[in-house]
Amino acid sequence: MEKLGMNEIREKYLSFFESKGHLRLPSFSLVPKNDKSLLLINAGMAPLKPYFTGKEIPPSKRVTTCQKCIRTPDIDRVGKTARHGTFFEMLGNFSFGDYFKKEAIPWAWEFVTKVLELPEERLWVTIYENDDEAYEIWNKVVGLPPEKIVRMGKEDNFWEIGTGPCGPCSEIYFDRGEDKGCGKPTCGVGCDCDRFIEFWNLVFTQFDKDAEGNYNPLPKPNIDTGMGLERIATIMQEVDSIFDVDVIRGITDYVGEMAGVKYGDDKKNDVSLRVITDHIRGVTFMISDGILPSNEGRGYVLRRLLRRAARYGKLLGLDRPFLYNVVDVVVEHYKGAYPEIQERKDYIKNVIKKRRGAV
Ligand code: ALA
Repeated sequence: MEKLGMNEIREKYLSFFESKGHLRLPSFSLVPKNDKSLLLINAGMAPLKPYFTGKEIPPSKRVTTCQKCIRTPDIDRVGKTARHGTFFEMLGNFSFGDYFKKEAIPWAWEFVTKVLELPEERLWVTIYENDDEAYEIWNKVVGLPPEKIVRMGKEDNFWEIGTGPCGPCSEIYFDRGEDKGCGKPTCGVGCDCDRFIEFWNLVFTQFDKDAEGNYNPLPKPNIDTGMGLERIATIMQEVDSIFDVDVIRGITDYVGEMAGVKYGDDKKNDVSLRVITDHIRGVTFMISDGILPSNEGRGYVLRRLLRRAARYGKLLGLDRPFLYNVVDVVVEHYKGAYPEIQERKDYIKNVIKKRRGAV
């Protein structure tokens, strides 16, 4: 397993699925379009919902994207742990009524074992409890032994987010080794400890959930997959947290240099460095997508991220406005995949600078 950088993994993923007939689309905006159920885009499939339900015609029946996402339920834990973040990128391949499980599963395996070259003996999969079709494909087509195909219930292996397209799923896990585990005799796939890490979710989107909670079968089944880019990079770079992944560490180290501290030297400073590193990425992309700080909705999320970053900056002794300068490093690392942030760099920096009590 090569220690690939985040930018390399993203490119390998998108070009692999292009080679399987997918149209590569740029990330959609973080601002949902015609979807009142979401404040911010939080999964690769979220902007594609109308294609799954048939409300709109997709530009191709096979699409692949790397989607910028924000999830905020854990915002207060960001920084305190090495795992939590609000901004992340999700790699995905999608079929709108075109291919289904018998293509999606072997392609996922091919990508993981042949392109990323993850060692097969470290890989495990889960399936939805009664999904015998997925079991047969993992077992007979891919060749995984039965003990490596774990059946799980609705809570773990049925994917849904609010109303809309949903269905049973199959997840791929990486075993980071016994030394990362809790050591309990029951430790295995699904254990809460840090040993078995889920990194790719293959959703077999077969239903459209309505507001009353009914699962209405979709006319044609679809595929929606999601692989957390930061998470797969953590695995491949053999580091313990997303803040140690190449691109992200580049931002952490830059903030550390500004404050004259080193990441890893002091637990309290590390919390601040992680908060700023996480939040500045979300802030950069949110402003680039046209969101402005305000008292409600998305603008309020942005304001909260800015305020938290400023507060933790102060704890590092960064009393003068500093955050807008960090945008330069974010742009440097991300402009290849998201050229728009390069074009809008000055605007993004100005919005941060002009905000009252600038950070
Ligand atoms: N939509 C699925 C997820 O976000 C792939 O996990």
